[in-house]
Amino acid sequence: MKLALIRKMALVAIALTCGTATAASPTPERINELVKTRCSVCHGPTGQSSNAEFPKLAGQNADYLVRQMFNFKTLARKSTEMEKEMAGLTGNDIEGLAQYFSSQQLVPATRQDAALIEAGRNFYMTGSPERGISACVVCHGDHARGARLLPRVAGQHARYLAIQLRRFAEQSRTTDQMLMHSVASKMTEDEIWAVSYFLSGYD
Ligand code: HEC
Ligand code: HEC
Repeated sequence: MKLALIRKMALVAIALTCGTATAASPTPERINELVKTRCSVCHGPTGQSSNAEFPKLAGQNADYLVRQMFNFKTLARKSTEMEKEMAGLTGNDIEGLAQYFSSQQLVPATRQDAALIEAGRNFYMTGSPERGISACVVCHGDHARGARLLPRVAGQHARYLAIQLRRFAEQSRTTDQMLMHSVASKMTEDEIWAVSYFLSGYD
């Protein structure tokens, strides 16, 4: 326990140092190399991952991407895969990778189940006032594109979205304090799937 805490503090210190590094921006060659040799295996060369458990990074807000990468690096957000991937990357690499993926074109899924789309859209737009669930649209926006530290959720893999909502509900994803916890913990499994299905095809 004590050791884990010390490790975490050390990593925070490293991240802070990296974040304030004054070295020149990484070259496009360095970013391309990192994408090709590391990220593309899971997220695809343009951030349009084909495995629905690996998030699409294309078109995601750059500030949000930077913040999540630091969260993985400092272990504030836990992921065995991403902890390993962030090791050895500087703050400048992280900035460059975020810019690269953010500027790629995201392609949403094609969705056909009209009833499920409608149920999901409804929940996204209104939440559930009776049960005290805020409408997603309030924070993630009309087109679900988010802004800055608020993630874009439109066009993301349904499976990934549902996994994250369950993690917020059980508070195993702990980086946003209460915002997503209080929303997700009141959602039923049907609502989680409907809203995730709708969003994956939303543009
Ligand atoms: C071995 C597979 C794998 C590789 C390689 C990988 N990632 Fe990931 N990445 C994941 C998984 C899995 C998640 C979801 C983590 C979770 O919450 O469980 C993720 C999540 C992310 C997120 C958070 C996205 C969001 O919507 O919150 C970012 C940013 C990210 N990865 C960037 C990168 C970058 C940049 C690279 C290359 C340096 C990379 N990843 C390499 C598997 C991988
Ligand atoms: C009060 C503002 C707020 C509301 C309302 C809200 N969210 Fe969020 N959401 C956030 C913030 C902030 C984050 C980023 C958390 C972080 O930094 O880890 C987030 C993250 C997420 C993520 C993770 C995305 C990723 O790429 O990993 C999903 C999925 C999500 N929200 C879905 C929803 C859905 C569905 C609803 C409605 C049921 C909703 N949110 C309502 C603020 C909100």
